[in-house]
Amino acid sequence: MQKTLKSHGTWIGKWTFVLAATGSAVGLGNIWGFPYKAGTEGGAAFVLIYLLCIIIIGIPIMISEILIGRRSGNSPINSMKKSAIDSNRSSSWQLVGWIGISAGVLILSFYSVIAGICLNYIFIAASSSGEISASEQFASVIQSPISLMIWHTVFMFLTFLIVSAGVKDGIGRMVKILMPMLGLLLIFMVLYGIVKGDFSKALLFLFTPDFSNIGTNTFLSAMGQAFFSLSLGMGSIMAYGAYMPKDQEIVSTSFSVGSLDTLVAIMAGLAIFPIIFAFNLEPGSGPGLVFISLLSAFNQMEFGQLIGAIFFILLSVAALSSSISILEPGVAFISEERIASRTSSALIISFLCWVVGIGTVFSFNIWSDYYPLPDKNFQETIELISVQILQPLGGMLIAIFVGWFMNESIIKSELGDLNPVFYKLWRFFIRYIAPSSVAFIFISQLL
Ligand code: PHE
Repeated sequence: MQKTLKSHGTWIGKWTFVLAATGSAVGLGNIWGFPYKAGTEGGAAFVLIYLLCIIIIGIPIMISEILIGRRSGNSPINSMKKSAIDSNRSSSWQLVGWIGISAGVLILSFYSVIAGICLNYIFIAASSSGEISASEQFASVIQSPISLMIWHTVFMFLTFLIVSAGVKDGIGRMVKILMPMLGLLLIFMVLYGIVKGDFSKALLFLFTPDFSNIGTNTFLSAMGQAFFSLSLGMGSIMAYGAYMPKDQEIVSTSFSVGSLDTLVAIMAGLAIFPIIFAFNLEPGSGPGLVFISLLSAFNQMEFGQLIGAIFFILLSVAALSSSISILEPGVAFISEERIASRTSSALIISFLCWVVGIGTVFSFNIWSDYYPLPDKNFQETIELISVQILQPLGGMLIAIFVGWFMNESIIKSELGDLNPVFYKLWRFFIRYIAPSSVAFIFISQLL
């Protein structure tokens, strides 16, 4: 490459990458998205397809993204370009990076609105006396475009602040303390579900698949959820991989991040569904599920106001450690190309996300009857395009690139002295299984 790109430096210490990547992966996707999708898409059958997607598509692609990122050390656009040129391939593979940045803007636009609701719920939970039901509470929250807008703006601003300061500085410390706390509180909620909820019904719902429940959309939705939850296919993990120290093991790290992420999603399901069934709430009630079910539980609990407030603080932090990773690929690109400073880059992209997010705010109230696509309101349309189409598409292209076009000696040098059996296995998955599974799900959806 002719011009010199601005360098971003690497993360210090072995744990920072794992923490940051886990911070990126664990977020609203696990605690808000997974339970509500499982609820609307038929329970255990969805869960099973989701887990399958994590193993046969997600983890192999995560390994690929990290290795491309670390090899080049740049934003996803330039990392793809560099890896392609170094493998004597066309530089148009950088398109993958562009798809990722577009997906990121769309994802962050609705992510910020939902995370804004979490921020709002810190105060709602802290003062909730249970006078109105949790369902009525949620309905009243989403009815007000002004209040949704305010919290969306606050969340987007926080994301902007952290990213403009540089992902490397603030995040490590934040994630190290607060994520384990979130884990502990989730364990507490699962225990609460075992004692006070209908735990056996929840287990049945989550783990006894009934394939007659599967809708036409279930496969696409489960695959999208897997990409979303693992932060794949749009450059976040690739961008973080660029800051990973050279002596760190890519494959085992990917397994750790993937397992932690899956564990948190399953725990969220085990915390939420016992409450849903015990309180006769509707499992298929959609995006309000986590807010309604947990607030119902907090309302009944001793010290529920305090525990509820802490829970939503931690959930907001988990959302923040994800949102910064959604913003990072675009910001890294604009700043390394020296088009604008890091702060201005962050400002430009945050503003874009904020504007598109207004549509999601309205989709809950004044636009609730507006369907840009059949059966899909504005928010669902944005989610379909970004999470269910662009992320899997980006991931499929990454798999094809690494499996078929990238120079194998480069790959091997990045993967270090990986056990040859693991290497062969991964290579088989990345060449054949991952791309064909994504293609199969796309095609069957079209038909
Ligand atoms: N994985 C994050 C979550 O589960 C969301 C995310 C998607 C982050 C895409 C980065 C990229 O909340």
